[in-house]
Amino acid sequence: MRKKITVVGAGNVGATCAQELARRDYADVVLVDIIPSFPQGKALDINQAGAVLGYEPAMTGSNGYEETAGSDVVVVTAGRPRSPGMSRDDLVATNEAIVSAVTKEAVRHSPDSIIVVVSNPLDAMCHVAKATSRFRKHRVVGMAGILDTARFATFISQELDVSVKDVTAVVLGGHGDQMVPVVSATNVGGVPLPELMPKARIRKLVERTKFGGGELVGLLGTSAWYAPGAAAAQMVDSICLDEKRILPCTAYLEGEYGIDGLYMGVPVKLGTGGVEEIVKLRLTVDEKKMLRASAAAVRDVVSVLGRS
Ligand code: NAI
Ligand code: 2OP
Repeated sequence: MRKKITVVGAGNVGATCAQELARRDYADVVLVDIIPSFPQGKALDINQAGAVLGYEPAMTGSNGYEETAGSDVVVVTAGRPRSPGMSRDDLVATNEAIVSAVTKEAVRHSPDSIIVVVSNPLDAMCHVAKATSRFRKHRVVGMAGILDTARFATFISQELDVSVKDVTAVVLGGHGDQMVPVVSATNVGGVPLPELMPKARIRKLVERTKFGGGELVGLLGTSAWYAPGAAAAQMVDSICLDEKRILPCTAYLEGEYGIDGLYMGVPVKLGTGGVEEIVKLRLTVDEKKMLRASAAAVRDVVSVLGRS
């Protein structure tokens, strides 16, 4: 039986994610946005692209939630993106109200779904989606680590002039400037990164990764969408197809990695049940310290929730 996926927010990230999913051809996709006729137009356009690219026209655009009923996965991309000079965290008050409102409607119509949160500030918005949905922790998961890891892997492949396919990188922690590129777990074709590059070079790539979102905001005047949309679609694949991929995702921690009661980016096993396992990665002393600092930064943002 075909799966059903709802993507809320038909803007840059939502439409990109929806198109990626349409191309997979295993699910009916409902694209929801608050702007009248906008998701309908995007869905029509994506359906017509199917005639060229070879997938079925299975996308519906809507300004409501009736069409979303019974979705297996709900991807939440609704909200304001970053503009130049704005941190991800500046978005907290605006997007808290939006994520709360869309989660409420989405879960009313799809009570058995898994929620994939994309809206920023990501870690805090996962808390909002979990609190609003009242879903258990494994059914609310955030997208950030795949994107941050993709950026790190891209920089490494360009620096070493090797295929990005042979770069295995890991970025954990919160989706903020204090994220933690895990150099000790990063290798190229099985060769540890520190054996391939001097420390100073690695440091530069790590810094570029941490500020990778801001680099794109500077270039585009808004935040990125191709890589984020593809990353969210990869998570949906793993859930809908029960692939059980081990992917860096934002999961609710209860003691894992020494962090309690907080959404943070960690390696997880993603399958039909959502977050089926939090995978323990051995970190160096420095990496553990950076993860704790990242957790503190996330707590700061989470503490602002509910104030406006
Ligand atoms: P966008 O502005 O292109 O699209 C957002 C869409 O949400 C708009 O079409 C808007 O009409 C819609 N929307 C607003 N309120 C809504 C509501 N109540 N119900 C339904 N739809 C509503 O923004 P973009 O670039 O697609 O980014 C979306 C979010 O994703 C932003 O918060 C951005 O910061 C975040 N983001 C997160 C990333 C991550 O790694 N987690 C990466 C890139 C973006
Ligand atoms: C990004 O990392 C802004 O979170 C967004 O591109």
